[in-house]
Amino acid sequence: MIFIEKEIQTAAYLFASILFILSLGGLSSQESAKRSVFYGIVGMGIAILATVLGKGVEGHIYIIGAISAAAIIGTLLARKVEMTSMPQLVAILHSFVGLAAVLVGYGSYLDPAAHKLSSSEHTIHLVEVFIGVFIGAITFTGSIVAWGKLEGKIMSKPLLYPGRHAVNIVLLLTSIVLGVMFAGAEGTNGMIYLYIMTAIAGFIGVMLVMAIGGADMPVVVSMLNSYSGWAASAAGFMLGNDLLIVTGALVGSSGAILSIIMCEAMNRSFFSVILGGFGAVTSSGEAAVMEGEVTSLTHEEVADLLKEAKSIVIVPGYGMAVAKAQYPIYDMVKTLQKAGKKVRFAIHPVAGRLPGHMNVLLAEAHVPYDIVLEMDEINPDLPDTDVVMVIGANDVVNPGAQDDPSSPIYGMPVIEAWKAEKVIIMKRSMSVGYAGVENPLFYKPNAEMLYGDAKDSVEKILGFLKA
Ligand code: TAP
Repeated sequence: MIFIEKEIQTAAYLFASILFILSLGGLSSQESAKRSVFYGIVGMGIAILATVLGKGVEGHIYIIGAISAAAIIGTLLARKVEMTSMPQLVAILHSFVGLAAVLVGYGSYLDPAAHKLSSSEHTIHLVEVFIGVFIGAITFTGSIVAWGKLEGKIMSKPLLYPGRHAVNIVLLLTSIVLGVMFAGAEGTNGMIYLYIMTAIAGFIGVMLVMAIGGADMPVVVSMLNSYSGWAASAAGFMLGNDLLIVTGALVGSSGAILSIIMCEAMNRSFFSVILGGFGAVTSSGEAAVMEGEVTSLTHEEVADLLKEAKSIVIVPGYGMAVAKAQYPIYDMVKTLQKAGKKVRFAIHPVAGRLPGHMNVLLAEAHVPYDIVLEMDEINPDLPDTDVVMVIGANDVVNPGAQDDPSSPIYGMPVIEAWKAEKVIIMKRSMSVGYAGVENPLFYKPNAEMLYGDAKDSVEKILGFLKA
């Protein structure tokens, strides 16, 4: 077996870290996103090679076997997973990072070499193990609950029981006491304290995510992404691996920045979300009574409305992703543009099921970026817009977020579709969106429903436009 010198390994780690930074930086724009994924893959390849070929590494046959099995499972999963199920996949992957941190912590505590360290080094090592296992266990169980909520296996309503913050604080204090006992234990006798703390941290993880409502799940997913980074970083300290420390810190801090950006976009307090809804204003639970009547149009009538309109805004949502309607939508846009109409897209920061979901789908259909506008850019133009077409979106155009304090999404900024002359809502039924709330928009006098699958409906409208 060929082994590489420590200096070469350090240089390889440095190079891999630079590639990871370039990768993260490039993900901020759609044009450079593909290239940055490539940087990430190369960086990870170098990191794995440099680690496996490092001096002192044994059992290569097991390592190669494990990496090959994981690569096959990963490739099959990534090929099979629908774009709409991506957040669930991300959540479950975070849980693996959390579990890995817990197992690395256990292994590192039981490693006989660790017990030969000098007294102060040993204490630092024990603190690393304890904190790493704590963050790892929270990430592990929290991510499983997030997966369950996104997959619809666990109710998306927040589970809020009286005194839960006091319970969490008591559990946190108990963990600190266990940490002191763990640090004072002889040899590997502290394992029992580590096990008890893992159970407590696992419970805290479950409760933190159970307390978050469906509408705030995007922030939770990015926050767990951040936790998984810190868990990996903690594992890096335990293993004395610089690259893992740097990579974990990159993931941890970028996840935290993304969470803050999303909290701002959704008008939520960051601390409230990371502390499991602490201080969140809970809705009265009394659903507002819908006033008005729901009316609907035919595909031909919608095509006639579009022919008369001068300015049109399309608001895509999760239903567009499900129906894979982006391709016929862009065909429709081109037809309308040829007829001299001003057509633009309005994108809500949490439309769909993952950050940037709509932008990626529209880019896939080659929609030019200059007609894709963010919510804040388009909202002031909506009162002067003739027709707004809401395609498979629901929560992101809910006026209750502005005027119904009882709504779970109250305070979240929304696309003010109702301010346009006419609003057409294209969905299959009157059913609710992800947050599980009724939408008063459907009952407004200037709103009309167009029932049916989004792709099917757009194709029919296009047929009438071309006729
Ligand atoms: P939603 O509020 O979930 O509404 C989507 C609507 O699409 C549904 O009401 C559904 O109504 C309709 N639909 C489903 N399949 C369809 C099809 N084949 N054709 C036509 N319509 C279809 O979506 P949104 O407005 O995009 O809002 C996103 C929600 O997801 C927010 O609550 C957000 O907080 C949450 N969320 C977002 C993220 C991120 S980061 N973006 C992550 C997790 C959760 P019918 O069943 O009647 O057709």
